[in-house]
Amino acid sequence: MNYRNIICEAISKASGLAENEIEALMETPPDKSLGDFAFPCFKLAKTFRKAPAMIAGELIDKIEKPGFVSQINAVGAYINFFVDRSVFAKDIIEKIMEEGTDYGRSDRGRGKTIVLDYSSINIAKPFHIGHLLTTVIGNSLYRIFSFLGYTCVGVNHLGDWGTQFGKLISAYKRWGNRELIEEGGIKELLNIYVRFHKEAETHPELEDEARAYFKAIEDGDEEALALFHWFKDVTLKDISKIYDLLGVKFDSYAGESFYNDKMQPVIDELREKGLLEESDGAMVVNLDDEGLPPCLILKRDGTTLYATRDLAAAFYRKKTYDFDKCLYVVAYQQNLHFKQLFTVIKKMGYDWADDMVHVNFGMVSMADGAMSTREGRVVFLEEVLQKAIEKTRSIIEEKNPGMEDKDTVSRQIGVGAVIFSALYAGRIKDMVFDYDRVLNFDGETAPYVQYCHTRCRSLLQRAEGRYDAVAPDWSVFTEDEAFDVVSRLSDFPELIEKASLRYEPSLITHYVTELAQAFNKYYYDFRIIDDDMNKTAARLKMTLAVADTIKTGLWLLGIETPTKM
Ligand code: ARG
Repeated sequence: MNYRNIICEAISKASGLAENEIEALMETPPDKSLGDFAFPCFKLAKTFRKAPAMIAGELIDKIEKPGFVSQINAVGAYINFFVDRSVFAKDIIEKIMEEGTDYGRSDRGRGKTIVLDYSSINIAKPFHIGHLLTTVIGNSLYRIFSFLGYTCVGVNHLGDWGTQFGKLISAYKRWGNRELIEEGGIKELLNIYVRFHKEAETHPELEDEARAYFKAIEDGDEEALALFHWFKDVTLKDISKIYDLLGVKFDSYAGESFYNDKMQPVIDELREKGLLEESDGAMVVNLDDEGLPPCLILKRDGTTLYATRDLAAAFYRKKTYDFDKCLYVVAYQQNLHFKQLFTVIKKMGYDWADDMVHVNFGMVSMADGAMSTREGRVVFLEEVLQKAIEKTRSIIEEKNPGMEDKDTVSRQIGVGAVIFSALYAGRIKDMVFDYDRVLNFDGETAPYVQYCHTRCRSLLQRAEGRYDAVAPDWSVFTEDEAFDVVSRLSDFPELIEKASLRYEPSLITHYVTELAQAFNKYYYDFRIIDDDMNKTAARLKMTLAVADTIKTGLWLLGIETPTKM
């Protein structure tokens, strides 16, 4: 725990005031000789009905002094705390030595399950750059919650239902080639899909044909179903290459079609509860009370919708996983959809509707304009990843041609750079995807942080364990630069906590960047290994603590750490 918070906790115990109130009042004295922290007692005067100075005087006897606080005194209405940096550094670093890459792990979530719906791609549509965010945010949240002890269930809610499958069958029967599609995967499917839309502009009868084919799938026609499953297989096989590159996994691929036979009971329940109304021949749930447009459940022709499937999925997930929370990592364009979904479930009388969270995020657009699947204007994520890997490889060839296992290292760095840039900005910000920026490895980037990690490891290697038995001289941490590193290290567990509460991996992206910057600053200003054996031993312990913490931080983001760079 952060030393400031430990002090706040001690004051809270002694005074009865809430910790966050104390936190807000805490001051940092302008002059260090007055202490590292000062707590003003003016606010307590009302509760205790005493003069602030008296309260300060009495409280200092009651406060249980944390080990790293060398002195507490009262000056006027202030209580001053003097932190012994060496003791604090020793506590934190020894803790990290003990826990290694488990530092920050907790069992807060023990016995609780979190369902995470992320990536959730649409079959036969390309995995474009817009899918990057849901995939990497979801993956990171999965890791964060697992690290906090939750049982996580990652669901890829496949978009595998809808009229586009009718279009695809029609297109395939007209212009498709099995081998080409087996080989070219989604790109080839997309080609015929785009062609369908072009030709349908002048031949509207194609749309009727597509509708008929979709009906055939719905009716269980053998040939239509076989094609439908084949399109799905081709897409998933193709996309697994990207998931493998990104290191992303799912526990379930139950998508929209999975709920074909699970919607009726929910529709019946809506009807029984008097929530289903007719509107223009369609069936809706009226949400006027909540100031929302009605939620469409059945179309005029009796067919179900995206929302109907999501409703069935929510009940299925609650029943199957008994989740503590169900997260939907989906762009903010679907804000209304999820509001309606959650409200309908609440109206049905289920309080667990409050445990469903739309973890939304901003749009990704291309520097040169929007994307359109129908027109075939998309940037394929696989290309972006391959380019980043190639670029890394060429830098390695130039700077370190003798390096071992260049393929692995290029992949770790190239893919890491793409994930990092997607997770750098806060979730809700719109993001303009700019190739050059993602492929620029200077400044606040994954390679920068990964490089700091390898620097730490190579320092430790250079020390060859010579200092393992040497008593560390913790006084090195009285220096501001060194203490800065230590105090950042102490922030880590709470930071993970915060990232989980806000569903915000970017907090971790920033954290590892700043930790690497703090370490690098120390590294440039001071020597880690010098003639003083005891000081060197202390600095090396800090170096190991930084390496392990960066490794965990990057892992939580879904980014690997090369051992050499
Ligand atoms: N397939 C949808 C899309 O690409 C996202 C699905 C999100 N998950 C859900 N349960 N609705 O827009």
